[in-house]
Amino acid sequence: MTSRPLLFCLLFWTIACGTKEPELQLLDTVKLESTGLKVEVLADSLVVPWDLEVDSEGFLWVAEQEGKVSRIELQTAEKQLMLLIPDVWQQRTSGLLGMALHPDFASNPFVYLNYTAKKDTLITSRLMRYELQEDALTNGQLLLEIEGGTSHNGSRLAFGPDGMLYWATGDTHDFAYAQDPKKLNGKMLRMKADGSIPADNPDPSSYVWALGFRNMQGLAFSEKGLLYTSEHGDAIEDEVNLIRSGGNYGWPAIEGKHDLPDEVVFAEAHQSIEPIRSWTPVIAPAGLAFYGKKEIPEWSNSLLLTTLKGKSLRILHLAEDGTGIGEEEVLFENHYGRLRDVSVGPQGEIYLSTSNRDWNPQPGFPLAGDDKILKISVTNQLNSSSLTVSLPKIASSLDGKQLYLNYCASCHKEDGSGLSGAFPALAGSSLVEGEIGPVVKVVTGGKGQMPAFAFLSNQDISQILSYVRNSLGSQASEISSGEVEENR
Ligand code: HEC
Repeated sequence: MTSRPLLFCLLFWTIACGTKEPELQLLDTVKLESTGLKVEVLADSLVVPWDLEVDSEGFLWVAEQEGKVSRIELQTAEKQLMLLIPDVWQQRTSGLLGMALHPDFASNPFVYLNYTAKKDTLITSRLMRYELQEDALTNGQLLLEIEGGTSHNGSRLAFGPDGMLYWATGDTHDFAYAQDPKKLNGKMLRMKADGSIPADNPDPSSYVWALGFRNMQGLAFSEKGLLYTSEHGDAIEDEVNLIRSGGNYGWPAIEGKHDLPDEVVFAEAHQSIEPIRSWTPVIAPAGLAFYGKKEIPEWSNSLLLTTLKGKSLRILHLAEDGTGIGEEEVLFENHYGRLRDVSVGPQGEIYLSTSNRDWNPQPGFPLAGDDKILKISVTNQLNSSSLTVSLPKIASSLDGKQLYLNYCASCHKEDGSGLSGAFPALAGSSLVEGEIGPVVKVVTGGKGQMPAFAFLSNQDISQILSYVRNSLGSQASEISSGEVEENR
């Protein structure tokens, strides 16, 4: 975007510039029940814009995973680089992650950032506060540094209506951390804006506000001041949680709802709190924002959730008191690819970021110009090709291919080719084509970074493995549910 529109405005102010809207590329329109929406490109050619935050001064702040912070003036769409962090350690899901702006940004122009760093072999996760001075971020100050990992570093940051900063951390893939109150990983942390511990935390000597989390990827306060998170489950049970002071959210003893005998026992002993929504098959939920504006009445009092694997925006309609989720709607499925974050602007407009240049690209993506920031706002110019919302698909009665796409393709890829250095190819694998026992055991018992799928029925595993052995370049016999039963 250039400053040409501005120059044009100076010359022809009275004719052309009654409304100061930048001219953006129109991608699509969306027809809701009574409101029309348009989707435009606010910015393009970014690399994994992990976090978006709108400030009170008319700018959208963007944190890109490799360590870049920019701001975009909403009136002109002009983008300005504000900070390049030199010591960001980026790999797969680590790098520059969460960002938050001081709630009173006009008089306290502080930007809070979390990123992973590495010294020799030691990975840490740093919470920094920078100050806005004359169009740049300076005076970086370390507020808190916790253990980091090669994966599961979270993270998101948000200020609450109490003026406190909340930091959703990941468990760094260590099963011992989320339930250990002394560790700051796998926790919701709460601190003052200067990084000190508030006296009214559950333990006044600890940052921990709530525990029992695996890897949170979304964080949002509602107008009522309720705090919601989105979180990645392992092979099953992605979650949205309503966070309460001192709450235990169960990981790793509990996945999703408290529906297994061991989970019930743990839940009773620790008074753990169930998610208000969970998803199996997983959708890889990411950024979360509360929508309370009047401009899109169909979405009032809802949570907007971006998904990575699900490649969609979900509208989660909240109960009146905010303690539960009713209807869920899906928009843009497979249309713009992986979606990383969402933020609501002052005029009720919505900003979304794509994540098609991240570590796990999907077939057909990235699209030209990715990654993008999309602006969604109201229009009355709809047409016959306007997009619409749909209800989520039900996972029952899926065939082998659909089950494979739901449970396996996010890692092993749609065509079974895997991802070099991370996920082995299933196409042509001797283990896949070989005897029934070992391949059934890998799927039901997991192996290394491969999650266990013991929760799947014999029938489902039989369908998946028959598909994998027949349709991904291998020519091996089908596996019946009886054979799964004998070998699991
Ligand atoms: C979260 C990523 C992930 C998902 C989802 C996943 N896998 Fe895997 N899978 C892996 C990894 C990583 C390995 C390698 C494990 C090792 O050797 O340490 C693996 C290994 C395997 C192997 C052994 C391949 C070989 O040649 O050694 C098979 C078979 C397999 N997976 C099948 C499946 C099936 C079927 C599904 C779906 C039900 C599935 N996987 C879902 C990550 C995944």
